[in-house]
Amino acid sequence: MSDIVISGKGFPVSSVHFRSSIADFPAFVSGKGPLFIVYDLNASSYAEAVASAVSPVSVLGISVSEDTKTIETVSGICSWLLEKGADRNAVLVAVGGGILTDMAGFAAAIYKRGIEVAYVPTTLLAQVDASVGGKTGVNFQSYKNILGVIRQPLFTFICPEVLTSLPYSHILEGAAEMIKTFIIKDGGNYRRAVSFFSRLAESGDRQAALKAGAETLGSLVRAAVSVKAEIVSADQFENGVRRKLNLGHTFAHAIEWRSHSISHGQAVSVGIVCAARLSAALGLCPGDLPDMLAGDLGRCGLETALPFRLADLHDAMLKDKKAEDGSVRFVLIRGIGDTDVVSLTVDEALAALS
Ligand code: GLY
Repeated sequence: MSDIVISGKGFPVSSVHFRSSIADFPAFVSGKGPLFIVYDLNASSYAEAVASAVSPVSVLGISVSEDTKTIETVSGICSWLLEKGADRNAVLVAVGGGILTDMAGFAAAIYKRGIEVAYVPTTLLAQVDASVGGKTGVNFQSYKNILGVIRQPLFTFICPEVLTSLPYSHILEGAAEMIKTFIIKDGGNYRRAVSFFSRLAESGDRQAALKAGAETLGSLVRAAVSVKAEIVSADQFENGVRRKLNLGHTFAHAIEWRSHSISHGQAVSVGIVCAARLSAALGLCPGDLPDMLAGDLGRCGLETALPFRLADLHDAMLKDKKAEDGSVRFVLIRGIGDTDVVSLTVDEALAALS
């Protein structure tokens, strides 16, 4: 399988390697190092396989959640690196989901003013979004991802086969981000993804269906990474087109802030429907697009309805890290594969939606 390259003006080239076995991992770190592996305890067996393939200096397992996605956990990773004697040539290998790769990337960016990091994402969400594009960071004082930097990893190593043993709820988390990516740039993949995830949702034996569909899922992951790589290559620091990758996220972050019981992926799905309803209310898309999208996402097993009143989003939306003077850049949908970024005040957006 060929690699995908992220490369643009003023930042180092980063590659995404797609391989079907962890046995191919050592080739990418050969001659580099010393290696330090930090992993998500949910991905222990996979991390063990990575560790036994490359003989790291030290391995650290950490328990991750949105609540422990903090500067203290990053400080713990830095303390471990220091204690184990990591110098500036060290390469930190992060094995796990998006919360782990975000924190490891941040630790690598600040430890001794920056050491290399390589990501081995083990969830669908991390493979299609978090581990690609260089965003790193932690939550701080109830703000999501408010501390962090954008810094490309040395590489991301994606083994789609690892996804076939994930619990179904983890697959749904990544499904919303993947569908989001194909609403931004389609190329026929939006329908392919909806058809894949809705068949999975309807299947009586989802684990078996996931294994049977591994090849299709792998090709969808690759297509989503390819869209993201193209966007990040054009706009690493999110001054333009990269803003589109936030489709649904202004609503999603506000929903997550307001209701701790909803997961990020489910909130993104509701956020996409809200963005579509706002687009229709502003006359930007056909009036039936929001219901079409809600129907597709719902068939995929994703949430599509706000879990509380629209007005309750107000204060939470102003907490978005991208809000400036009460205005937020909303990503609006003209059609599948056709989105626009429009700056609106939170009051204007909520009035249009009500
Ligand atoms: N998750 C959106 C981005 O990487 O820009």
